Amino acid sequence: AGAARVGGAAMAVFVTRRIPAEGLRVLSQAGGCRVQQWDSEEPVPRAELLAGVAGKRGLLCLLSDRIDREVLEAAGPGLKVISTMSVGFDHLALEEIKKRGIRVGYTPDVLTDATAELSVALLLAACRRLPEAVEQVKNGGWTTWKPLWMCGYGLSDSTVGIIGLGRIGQAVARRLKPFGVKKFLYTSSRPKPACAAEFEAEFVPLTRLAEESDFIVVTCALTQATQGICNKDFFGRMKKTSVFVNTSRGTVVNQEDLYDALAHGQIAAAGLDVTTPEPLPTDHPLLSLKNCVILPHVGSATYATRSTMAVLAANNLLAGLRGEPMPHELLL
Ligand code: DGY
Repeated sequence: AGAARVGGAAMAVFVTRRIPAEGLRVLSQAGGCRVQQWDSEEPVPRAELLAGVAGKRGLLCLLSDRIDREVLEAAGPGLKVISTMSVGFDHLALEEIKKRGIRVGYTPDVLTDATAELSVALLLAACRRLPEAVEQVKNGGWTTWKPLWMCGYGLSDSTVGIIGLGRIGQAVARRLKPFGVKKFLYTSSRPKPACAAEFEAEFVPLTRLAEESDFIVVTCALTQATQGICNKDFFGRMKKTSVFVNTSRGTVVNQEDLYDALAHGQIAAAGLDVTTPEPLPTDHPLLSLKNCVILPHVGSATYATRSTMAVLAANNLLAGLRGEPMPHELLL
């Protein structure tokens, strides 16, 4: 106790949401940490965020909190650490944060398995039309066993393209390989021969990945370089029989172009765990398509993973407050 104190004063932190209890416990047991929390399942309203962060030394936030200059100014010069309970950091204005010398913690690795597993589940749900089939059972559409009914596409002998062969991309490839995938292609900011060797994956331009893949899984980070890369040209190059899956960030995809490709049979199906915006309005055109399976951003949603993420985010925050090395610091 007291380790997180500066000159004996407790260090004030703001936590922007109700998080798994294990994470909060790490903060409350740290002794020197005084926690103010938006203790709700729902996002903190902007005004409450601006008020809550004022005068704080640490901020524990989520991917749904946009941490921009306005928030940093509301916090004031005392803010030293931002810890996000996510591997993604596209919601953080990194330039502004860096300028102020604020350290950033994030949660890579601990959600890789859960997110890769969900990516595979979503891919299978889309290519084998699971939600549509379940619906048929419920609405009486299942009249008999029909040779031509409810057919989809399988992974045997297929070519899988991974956009972003990072931690999650590799974990997806590792899980898909035993399904009988014949060939892996990948794009990335640079070739990653050491990572690709396990799958004999070939580094190719995005255009070739689009043209040759039977399944495409997007697992890259959202950056200026990846924003909107899955667009009309990209979908236009895909085969009519191919399936597109995105578990990274919605903005990597031009959703209008995806809608057109799905609606006009330019591609076979899509599975999205991420959209723009989130949540997707319930009257969004994508939701009217049978060949589009949409999940509410649940890639990392296992009890164990979310608990581990909360603990890691709390430990990153504490380490930052104490001026110690963080378990996972995002180096700016
Ligand atoms: C992340 O961590 O960035 C995921 O999108 C949610 O776990």
